[in-house]
Amino acid sequence: MKNIIVLVSGGGTNLQALIDAQNNGKIPNGKISCVISSNPNAYALERAQKHHIETSVIRRKDYENQLSYDKALVELLKTKQADLIVLAGFMTILGEYVIQSFKNQIINIHPSLIPSFCGEGFYGLRVHEEALQRGVKVTGATAHFVNEVCDGGPIILQKAVEIQQGDTPQILQKRVMEQAEWQILPQAVALFCDGKIIVRSDNTTEIQY
Ligand code: GAR
Repeated sequence: MKNIIVLVSGGGTNLQALIDAQNNGKIPNGKISCVISSNPNAYALERAQKHHIETSVIRRKDYENQLSYDKALVELLKTKQADLIVLAGFMTILGEYVIQSFKNQIINIHPSLIPSFCGEGFYGLRVHEEALQRGVKVTGATAHFVNEVCDGGPIILQKAVEIQQGDTPQILQKRVMEQAEWQILPQAVALFCDGKIIVRSDNTTEIQY
């Protein structure tokens, strides 16, 4: 059984999708043991508490620099014996120390089809604003491993979502969540827990269905 720790910063709808998947038996080889938030007021913390999942808060601004924050976070994750760390709307940058401590053990959900609309500064609504501005007809979401390159780690799963006439960033964000993020994130987590994701040396993955 893999021990899953979910990192959040906001509303936590992706966390909810993971909790629901776990409760519906869709992650048979994993268990969410702890939710860590970068924001003490995140609604995601309430979602966790409702399901009797332990919570913790760690704020970047309480640390002098990136390395001291990274070290505190790694210690917390090691104390909790994390096998898999899921970034579910986690908005704090993780430094190399964290990434190297958990190589190919950190999964992120990003609200676009990487390599479009990703990288530094592309998070939350901004991603959808840029997609609409560029006039793409299809967008989507990507579940990927986290490496040292922002949104550049090995891709695990992607799902496309069509743009519709009259879309606003908010409407598009909701559709991408419903049709893509809430589906592929639990699927990627289940695949990891089943030991079905092989990471190749060329920064790609092979899924063993
Ligand atoms: C989600 O759309 C997620 O993909 C995005 O933030 C939102 C969090 O929502 N993440 C990023 O943009 C990361 N670059 P949630 O708190 O309701 O899951």
